[in-house]
Amino acid sequence: MSTHVAATLATPRAPLTLTTVETPAPAADEVLVRVRAVAINPVDWIIQGASRIIYRWLRTPAVLGSDVAGEVVAVGEAVTRFRVGQRVFGLATGTDRARDPLREGAFQEYSTLLERLTAPTPDDLTDEQAAVFPLGLSTAACALFQPQHLGLRMPGGPASVVPPEVVVVWGGSTSVGMNAVQLARAAGYTVVSTASAENAEAVRALGAEAVVDHRSASAVADLVAAVDGRPVAGAVALGAGSTDACLDVLSQTGGTRLAMASTPVSLASLVGRRHLFPAMLPVFTRIGLATVRSTLRARRRGIRTGFVWGSSLRDDEMGPRLWGEVVPQMLADGSLRPAPAPLVVGEGLGAVQGGLDRQRAGVSAQKVVVRL
Ligand SMILES: NC(=O)c1ccc[n+]([C@@H]2O[C@H](COP(=O)([O-])OP(=O)(O)OC[C@H]3O[C@@H](n4cnc5c(N)ncnc54)[C@H](OP(=O)(O)O)[C@@H]3O)[C@@H](O)[C@H]2O)c1
Repeated sequence: MSTHVAATLATPRAPLTLTTVETPAPAADEVLVRVRAVAINPVDWIIQGASRIIYRWLRTPAVLGSDVAGEVVAVGEAVTRFRVGQRVFGLATGTDRARDPLREGAFQEYSTLLERLTAPTPDDLTDEQAAVFPLGLSTAACALFQPQHLGLRMPGGPASVVPPEVVVVWGGSTSVGMNAVQLARAAGYTVVSTASAENAEAVRALGAEAVVDHRSASAVADLVAAVDGRPVAGAVALGAGSTDACLDVLSQTGGTRLAMASTPVSLASLVGRRHLFPAMLPVFTRIGLATVRSTLRARRRGIRTGFVWGSSLRDDEMGPRLWGEVVPQMLADGSLRPAPAPLVVGEGLGAVQGGLDRQRAGVSAQKVVVRL
């Protein structure tokens, strides 16, 4: 039996520790990857700190992490798109319900990835750059393209919409937002978005036609002005306060679809507490009330809302199309760039806990990455 080292969550709310785990053989539809870089997402420290209440299915010990870049060391018998030695990046879905968090977590030397959620890393991208994509890109794609959310046409489909429809991305400087801007633009939509003044130019450079400051009191009015009477295909809400702001924009522009990726109240306050109970009670009460309020507001205005789950593309037709066709094509033609830029905070699995802490402390248009 071969083994390798993993940064493991031994028990809920414990700091990650280095342990030895069994190196799996890939299943028929998987590749086994020697991980060279991982990126950190808010969900990683949220699961670490609050999995007992929000990821109740997750058993420990578990290996967390969604974003993997590295090289293929073994392929399953049904794999056709990859060969041993090839550089790849992909979405690890081990913390999802009914998945295996030991085999499929990112934060370890060897991880298994589903072929359908993996893409070849182009020669001109480093592993650190490739690692910024998986969860941000997948979540953005779910919000934009899944029929239960905005249901937009994917890049590479039939010719672009005439006249162009507008997509609103609130939170364009987040990791999900920067991918959403690029995907929507590549699909032929006009994008209007938000970011702080410091990041507005970066979001424009990714393809947004207009970028307004999400901290400004006039942000909603500024977005409505930027839409300028054109038809709105829908909005993607990212960040605190984004749902209500997007509902306001949609109701003033005639848009009828909203994809929400952020909880209405941040779970951050629960993480790091000594006792989850009773601290969770006011947080979940506020989440429940905010959700009911937004749902009622949306209904009154004829707006369809839904909460996005970024790894749900594992089980639909969009996932393989995104990872197998759209992503390779967009990387080749330059319409998809790694954004936010990687912020490499350390090297080796021992640096992953520091990476989680760094992400939790807050980033601005940066993706926290650890090199292995
Ligand atoms: N549902 C899912 O499956 C899923 C998956 C991934 C992420 N998410 C959620 O999606 C959100 C974004 O995640 P991420 O990893 O992309 O975040 P991130 O990169 O860590 O977000 C950092 C950015 O958030 C921006 N920001 C801060 N407050 C904001 C606000 N009120 N409105 C809009 N933007 C704001 C900041 O922009 P400036 O510095 O320019 O101010 C900063 O650049 C989080 O709530 C995360 O939990 C959900």
